[in-house]
Amino acid sequence: MSKHPRKQAPVWLTKEICSIEDFRAQVELTTDPGSVPLAAEVIDNIPVYDGKTVCEAYTNAATSRAFMAEWNEVLATGPGIVVVKNSYDDLNLIDDVTQVLNEIIEEERQTGAAAGDHFAAAGANSRIWNSHEKLCMAAPELFARYNANPVIAMISQAWLGPLYQITMQVNVVHPGGKAQDCHRDYHMGFQSPDALKDYPARIHGLSAMLTLQGGIAHCDVPLDSGPTKLLPYSQTYLPGYIAAQLPDFREYFEEHCVQLPLNKGDMLYFNPAVFHAAGENKTSDIDRMVNLMQVGSGYGRSIEIVDRTRMSAALYPVLKRMADDGALDSSQIQCVIAACAEGYPFPANLDLDSPLSGMAPDSQQHLMHRALASNWSSDEFEKALRDRQNRVRSH
Ligand SMILES: [Fe+2]
Repeated sequence: MSKHPRKQAPVWLTKEICSIEDFRAQVELTTDPGSVPLAAEVIDNIPVYDGKTVCEAYTNAATSRAFMAEWNEVLATGPGIVVVKNSYDDLNLIDDVTQVLNEIIEEERQTGAAAGDHFAAAGANSRIWNSHEKLCMAAPELFARYNANPVIAMISQAWLGPLYQITMQVNVVHPGGKAQDCHRDYHMGFQSPDALKDYPARIHGLSAMLTLQGGIAHCDVPLDSGPTKLLPYSQTYLPGYIAAQLPDFREYFEEHCVQLPLNKGDMLYFNPAVFHAAGENKTSDIDRMVNLMQVGSGYGRSIEIVDRTRMSAALYPVLKRMADDGALDSSQIQCVIAACAEGYPFPANLDLDSPLSGMAPDSQQHLMHRALASNWSSDEFEKALRDRQNRVRSH
């Protein structure tokens, strides 16, 4: 029997161990098209996929798993970024959602509900926090059609497994809106180097495993309107949550980042540890509208409070009708339920909600699937939701 060797990698990450030479060695790589055989092309080291091909793959277990496996590698050890072109075949759907989102922006502006944005100067952009729940409550049928999208389901599962929790935040960057500073995203991307030094290195690695960053383009986003600046492969640099905030790394980022123009209906996804920053909108006439997505692992804590009980109650009658009249097929309904209802049954009160069989109580998603399969009325479903909520509490 051999001895367990002592590992040399540091447990505590600090500003002092961040090395621009090490960083360069990790990010100055070229993406071999042979490493991403399912991509339509590779542009600026980023694999670009065709949305129609992806959607067709969804209902075939072998091909969808092949896509997900490729994306998992791309996000973990590859360039860290995936673009899916033409993710919606019906761009009118995007326009219809845009209209509802603009109405929400206007209503929040008039009522003073818009809280502002810690990422940008006042007036430079318009934000809708929790646009996911707000869209669902304002227009549940549109919400269903918008989220009945296999690309969202497949990329989320590819990175996080099936228990993912979608959150969305609209960002409209108006002409003249400035670029952001280079950063990483939630969770650890929102902490200072001083706070980060107290977490073991493996938790730095874990942070990026708990979220997937994404965005749906609601308009064409040409280069001068400021698509996200990205540095491929930068997610692989372990001390990167600290390094992304250091001047020499930020300088390197500005010199080497890439930007891909997007069209309406395209989607961009990346590992939250990829160094990135929103670009400057240099146009005089494009309000750059992207519905940003932070998909959280069911095992982690999402960035926003989303009332999935309320959403599920609003969605159910609409989804039932769309299932009955064939507006959505079973695989699309699966996508919508995953986007709306809570898939993870914990934390639970095991006094009140101890599973009769297996290890876990039913989740909201289980409930919604069962309700549709058993043809429950809206009242029956709402009562079951409420009963479940009443069990999710402590004494
Ligand atoms: Fe970001």
